[in-house]
Amino acid sequence: MPLIAKRLQAVRPSQTKAMTAAAAALKEKGVDVIALSQGEPDFDTPEAVQNAGIAAIRNGRTRYTPVAGVKPLLEAIRDKLKRDNSLEYGIDQITVGCGAKQVVFNGLFASLDRGDEVIIPAPCWVSYPDMVRLAGGEPVLVACHERFGFKLKPEDLEAAITPRTKWLMLNSPNNPTGAVYSKAELAALAAVLRRHEKVHVLADDIYEKLVYGKRFATMAEAAPDLLDRTLTVNGVSKSSAMTGWRLGYGAGPKELIKAMNTIQGQTSSHTSSISQYAAIEAIGGNQDYIGDFVSDFEKRRDLVVEKINESQGLKCRSPDGAFYVFVNCAGVLGKVTPQGKAIETDMDFALYLLEQFGVAVVPGSGFMASPYIRISYAASVEELQHACGRILAACEALSESEMSDEQSKATA
Ligand SMILES: Cc1ncc(COP(=O)(O)O)c(C=O)c1O
Repeated sequence: MPLIAKRLQAVRPSQTKAMTAAAAALKEKGVDVIALSQGEPDFDTPEAVQNAGIAAIRNGRTRYTPVAGVKPLLEAIRDKLKRDNSLEYGIDQITVGCGAKQVVFNGLFASLDRGDEVIIPAPCWVSYPDMVRLAGGEPVLVACHERFGFKLKPEDLEAAITPRTKWLMLNSPNNPTGAVYSKAELAALAAVLRRHEKVHVLADDIYEKLVYGKRFATMAEAAPDLLDRTLTVNGVSKSSAMTGWRLGYGAGPKELIKAMNTIQGQTSSHTSSISQYAAIEAIGGNQDYIGDFVSDFEKRRDLVVEKINESQGLKCRSPDGAFYVFVNCAGVLGKVTPQGKAIETDMDFALYLLEQFGVAVVPGSGFMASPYIRISYAASVEELQHACGRILAACEALSESEMSDEQSKATA
């Protein structure tokens, strides 16, 4: 009898983690690699937040906490949701977990029965489809085209809904495209959802604070009447450079939050008590540093977008949020590398960039959209300049599909 459970057969390990690990392995061997595959800010956790974590240790805040999180943190989250998003939640409608990732998983696991469908606009974060499968549901991917800014159209949402649809997962600003939905666009999607009262919305707002020149809106704010069928997910990983602290939260209907707490109570219990006390500062304290993060990221975005659009074969839009550029690489497909290898997929192109030019990016296939690559610009300006120089050189080194005799021999 096989050791590994059948439900894992359809679940893939995260491609972002795989590319980051491949880059780290090459680096360890002494290869000069610039990793633009990571999904985390390259800033340090702000000092006041660090100090709150240290104080928590010194003050003996090192014991088990309630499953949903400590009360002052739940209060800080409640106040934040009111202040920033005009959402009214009671503290019994809020749960804190080990990152937004665990909160999303708990939400799906608490609600999906075998065969329930979850609509996921694609491109999407690598983990959504696999989390849905792990929880016993079926991901229904709905393509969001580049010409529409990679956003879900109401008519496509309507067409994807079936009697088995339980959730629509929305992620704005989006990973990997950086697309940001306006309040009006969310309201148009809400108009569809009103006709299907069994469909719930999971709004993953983890990149809320990283928006360039646009106003952020979340679904329950755009459609307050949908509040009781929305799970609003957020966290401190991206906004306060706290990826390693593992703290995210969800707010939603009491019944759902209670079920999510039951799952958490039987698995991780809760996230670290130290992270919880640090997050009170991150969520409730002074957040002026976010303005600096945003202006730094915006400059880096502009640099990468400009350079990439100078290349032979790549093109990208200037995204409104998050810290990724989703680059269309259709123009390099069918070309041949100096090593004689044909670039047939975005994975081939990502491997070529990594192995021959020392730049790690993630292929669009990981985000359910091809042919694209995702470049994270959460790196220093120097690194980004070097990396873009290498990407341009990599494109230039490609030749049209006719292989030279020598190359044909080499690949034979
Ligand atoms: C869309 C999206 N949601 C959630 C997460 C996970 O965030 P956390 O670190 O809070 O688990 C990520 C991280 O990359 C993400 O891109």
